[in-house]
Amino acid sequence: MNTIGQDIPRRDGHAKVTGTATYAYETPADNAAYCALLQATIAKGQVTEIDITDALALPGVLTILTPGDVQKLTPVENTELHVLQDNEIAYRGQIIGAVIADTSDIARHAVELVHFTYHVDEHDSAYSPDRDDLYTPDKLVTGAPADTSTGDVDAAMRTATHTVDHVYSTATNHNNPMEPHATTALWQDDTLILWDSTQGVHAVRTTLAEVLDLRPDQVRVICPYVGGGFGAKGEPHAPVVIAALAARALPGRPIRLALTRAQMFVLVGYRTPTTQHTRVAADDTGRLTAIAIAATGQTARIREYVEHAGAATRMMYAAPNRATSHRVAALDVAVPTWMRAPGECPGMFGPEVAIDELADALGIDPIDLRVANEPDVDPESGNPFSSRNLVACLRQGADRFGWADRAPRRDGDWLVGTGVAAAVFPAFTMRATAAIRYDQGRYTVEIGAADLGTGAWTVLPQIAADALEVPLDQVDVGIGDTSYPYASTAGGSTGTATWGSAVLAAVETFRDKFGTDPNDGDEAEGTHDQGPFNEQYATYAFGAQFAEVRVHADTAEIRVPRLLGVFAAGRIINPRTARSQFIGGMTMGLSMALHENSELDPRFGHVMNHDFAGYHIASCADATDVRAFWIDEEDPHVNPLGAKGIGEIGIVGTAAAIVNAAHHATGVRVRDLPLTLDKLL
Ligand code: MOS
Repeated sequence: MNTIGQDIPRRDGHAKVTGTATYAYETPADNAAYCALLQATIAKGQVTEIDITDALALPGVLTILTPGDVQKLTPVENTELHVLQDNEIAYRGQIIGAVIADTSDIARHAVELVHFTYHVDEHDSAYSPDRDDLYTPDKLVTGAPADTSTGDVDAAMRTATHTVDHVYSTATNHNNPMEPHATTALWQDDTLILWDSTQGVHAVRTTLAEVLDLRPDQVRVICPYVGGGFGAKGEPHAPVVIAALAARALPGRPIRLALTRAQMFVLVGYRTPTTQHTRVAADDTGRLTAIAIAATGQTARIREYVEHAGAATRMMYAAPNRATSHRVAALDVAVPTWMRAPGECPGMFGPEVAIDELADALGIDPIDLRVANEPDVDPESGNPFSSRNLVACLRQGADRFGWADRAPRRDGDWLVGTGVAAAVFPAFTMRATAAIRYDQGRYTVEIGAADLGTGAWTVLPQIAADALEVPLDQVDVGIGDTSYPYASTAGGSTGTATWGSAVLAAVETFRDKFGTDPNDGDEAEGTHDQGPFNEQYATYAFGAQFAEVRVHADTAEIRVPRLLGVFAAGRIINPRTARSQFIGGMTMGLSMALHENSELDPRFGHVMNHDFAGYHIASCADATDVRAFWIDEEDPHVNPLGAKGIGEIGIVGTAAAIVNAAHHATGVRVRDLPLTLDKLL
């Protein structure tokens, strides 16, 4: 009767591949109107005049929202939501109005007919790690301090027999889920209904109610399906507020708003560029005596988001002398956000390449070097790891990948090499409540969770069925609706562990109350809250990434014919959806390594390659053989379910493994992403 661990097909799979799953923009609605956004074409200044005469005269245009002409919004922490409150422009592409019309075509045509006059201020959008106005953030988004220091890294660097001291950098990346941010909004009987593409229906409800000065019970958010998010849908952004304002302007009429791909490059967040001054020192045996990272990045002047690229270095390897720091430049640019494995993904690039460089200098195998520096406890907190199977991942990966005979070789015109890197991602949980009801032989689980493609529709019934000790097909599940109990956002790889633990709690309450022979209509709730696990143990998932890279001897064309990852991520609920997460993450890591690079032109303050013609994302032809395996890990400490997150760790370390493999193949060490062929010539 155990369904956990079984390869169960996605419950939403058929609806998705047959096109019958209704995404936010496709929500059936009669007489919908369409919203198109007006955006600033300067990077800083004020709107001084708006001429909407021509646009309003276009047949089919219903109304136009302009700055200062909408309801006063309640100030909230997320300042990017304060749309159209005044004439100020803080970044190029900022929303400065919206047209609502009978059709999408009319709305977008009317956008071209609105004429803005600006007062232009000088803007500053040029990120550089050498700016003299870098500042230290109060704390990181994780709540951790910006800087840490133990021992004396400088002294260790001076006295060590082997050191690596280089600057590594990662590029600006945009999340770019397949489904853009989209909303269908309806204001009906003093209630706002938002069919919104989001990673967290309750987060959208809470925030939108606050911003719009409504009671939470006046806002209902519905989101059964999400076409990806990667963090960009982890918080509401400005467009959903616009959709809500438009709905209030036209009560009873559903409003549809979907971002264009170009708008996805400015309105819903991105991963900032990072610069990582990384230093490692070791003795002759390869024992680290110091490890340090000084991470620099950018944020938006209107809202702080700091990429915590130094965080992983705090806990990864044993070294008596350690230092990490974060500095940030506040620029006239769009607001950054979480992107798959924020912090760890970019932050494991510099250190994992530096470790490879150290292995080279020492003449030690890079796996052996990592194994030699395994810490007994979390070096930062001194807490034991709830489980840490990095070594097992490295060893199993080496076997599966064929690491042993890894001499670089030449195959015709191609130089072939291999590389390895470690991966880590924190395992924590949030708060969620699940309800269970019994009716006519069936159990229904309801929880305000979201499935952004990760498999919640499928794994939550598995968890419930096992806990209830009933067959899987007797369990129905409802998610993606604020009518269901509060559940945390699908973010930080916390979804399955959090919601699954809530389901376990609900089942326990249900069985306590009603036993195994319940009556129709019996219902119980259970809540999972985070901790105390995280305070007693260091809780992380680990992984080992292996890459084979081929570089053309004449053109330096780069291919990655093989990627292989082995992960230790607690209990795996469903191998099918889990594998999908791991290989999806690894593929995104390949994409980050070789392709993804949002190029901001500081003269104008916007990303120039804001479409899929100029911003290449790895395609099937790029990712030919990507394999993921995992180690069965029993972790009783991490949470009641024993599952660690798996949505993000797959991307961590991939880029470093590829860059290390490219060096192995060619002898050229590239320290800035993306790894493009010009850097190997
Ligand atoms: Mo993830 S970047 O926390 O959605």
